[in-house]
Amino acid sequence: METQQILNDLEKRLPIKRFEHVIRVTETAKKLSNHFGVSVEKAELAALLHDVAKYMEPADMRKIIEENSEDSRLLSFHHVIWHAAAGAVIARDEFGIDDSDILNAIRYHTTGRAGMSKLEKIIYIADLIEPGRNFLGIEELRKTTEISIDRAMKSCIVHSIGYLVEKQATVFPDSFECYNEHVQKMNSQLRKET
Ligand SMILES: [Fe+2]
Ligand SMILES: [Fe+2]
Repeated sequence: METQQILNDLEKRLPIKRFEHVIRVTETAKKLSNHFGVSVEKAELAALLHDVAKYMEPADMRKIIEENSEDSRLLSFHHVIWHAAAGAVIARDEFGIDDSDILNAIRYHTTGRAGMSKLEKIIYIADLIEPGRNFLGIEELRKTTEISIDRAMKSCIVHSIGYLVEKQATVFPDSFECYNEHVQKMNSQLRKET
């Protein structure tokens, strides 16, 4: 499906503010993929479709997750995170995306996970640092992203988990696994350097 066709479809599915967010995430993801040697075409598709299910009814997302054997643990967490798995199914079934890396980048863009591919990290990071986002430390995070994708991913997952803990909201286990993996990776790098 052509980019313009996807945009036309997204305009119907998403409110204008979310649509504009998607455009900014896509621009950011394209820049990052170019910088980190990942296919710009794949990054564009994953970014365009990452929030495709964001405004679906929770009951419809639940049905999609159940019927497509997506991770059933999601259903015992807040439905705000369901749009990622539901979105991967829609990208596959309604937009004809068959590349598993693109689908996983959509599937894990809210929770992260251990063992993320570069493309998955790019979408996760782009979602958080796109120019419309503003939170304490974001400029530092944007600079870190230019230097190291793993350091940026670690900062992103620390930010996301910290935000949830601050609100005393539950945290999906994949996010902790992503956090632990990145902290361990950073610590072992530090040990090598000293
Ligand atoms: Fe999202
Ligand atoms: Fe998003």
